[in-house]
Amino acid sequence: MSFHTIEQAPARLNRSELAVPGSQPQLFEKAAKSNVDVIFLDLEDAVAPDDKADARKNIIKALNDIDWGNKSISIRINGLDTHYMYRDVVDIVEQAGERLDLIMIPKVGTAADVYAVDMLVTQIEDARGYTKRIGFEHIIETALGMQNVSEIAAASKRNESLHFGVADYAASTRARTTIIGGVNPDYAVLTDPDGDGRRDIHWGDMWHYALARMVVAARANGLRPIDGPFGDFSDTDGYRAAAKRAAVLGCEGKWAIHPSQVDLANEVMSPSETEVERAQRILKAMQEAAAAGKGAVSLDGRLIDYASIRQAEVLVQKAEQIAAN
Ligand code: GLV
Ligand code: MG
Repeated sequence: MSFHTIEQAPARLNRSELAVPGSQPQLFEKAAKSNVDVIFLDLEDAVAPDDKADARKNIIKALNDIDWGNKSISIRINGLDTHYMYRDVVDIVEQAGERLDLIMIPKVGTAADVYAVDMLVTQIEDARGYTKRIGFEHIIETALGMQNVSEIAAASKRNESLHFGVADYAASTRARTTIIGGVNPDYAVLTDPDGDGRRDIHWGDMWHYALARMVVAARANGLRPIDGPFGDFSDTDGYRAAAKRAAVLGCEGKWAIHPSQVDLANEVMSPSETEVERAQRILKAMQEAAAAGKGAVSLDGRLIDYASIRQAEVLVQKAEQIAAN
């Protein structure tokens, strides 16, 4: 290990994160009763300019009146390049900041963007005498944000998670997409001809680099990497495949842009019973190995060592966190 210790963000269950437009308060109660881990009440792209002020009022009322249970509640504020953003923060944190767990900053481009919001939130919290500190979630969804992702990840003690905003990222990088979060058949490898001259096409994941880059920046700073939206909510197999790819790379959760995606995200982002059971066996085998003075042993015909302990511990801790929820 490096001498540098990585401070971990507060342990918060974030397998699923449901987007709920702030302009549609009729959806709030249902979201509060769902199985989702985190809800973000949106003031940004799902809300039309003329509805922004009302959306803010709806959110303030809902934060004060609705029983959100043990869910984490976030608001997605407008971008720092708009004149809505300061009122999103000031009005909502002043009037309902005590029930707010997180603020999601969209299209974050530089560490200074994070600093600016941190300064504003800190002043309001101090003026109001709030003791709880609101955490930050950042959407990495522009070329600038991806270029500066490491500095953004390290920019505030409030930082908790980085989210891959694939739709805006595609717009910013001018990537050719078909559907939000889906893959493009043009991003493919053509195999050499076989004996009969036949060639296969293997589809690739055009988001691989971006997601992997974000995961590294998040983990190097103790933050949760979260995969963003998958637009075709009628395609459950497509959603599951995208969520699995993200989970394999190290993401802890995925957005749900429709309530039907919440259970899918929870399912993919929770360790299976088999995985947990194997992790527990690894920990037991390594305890026995340590007692016998060995650093590495074999389990089910495979080598396990101290790195296996760290992986197993992560899985077991996640299972315990889910069970305690
Ligand atoms: C999310 O905000 C996205 O742009 O994908
Ligand atoms: Mg976006």
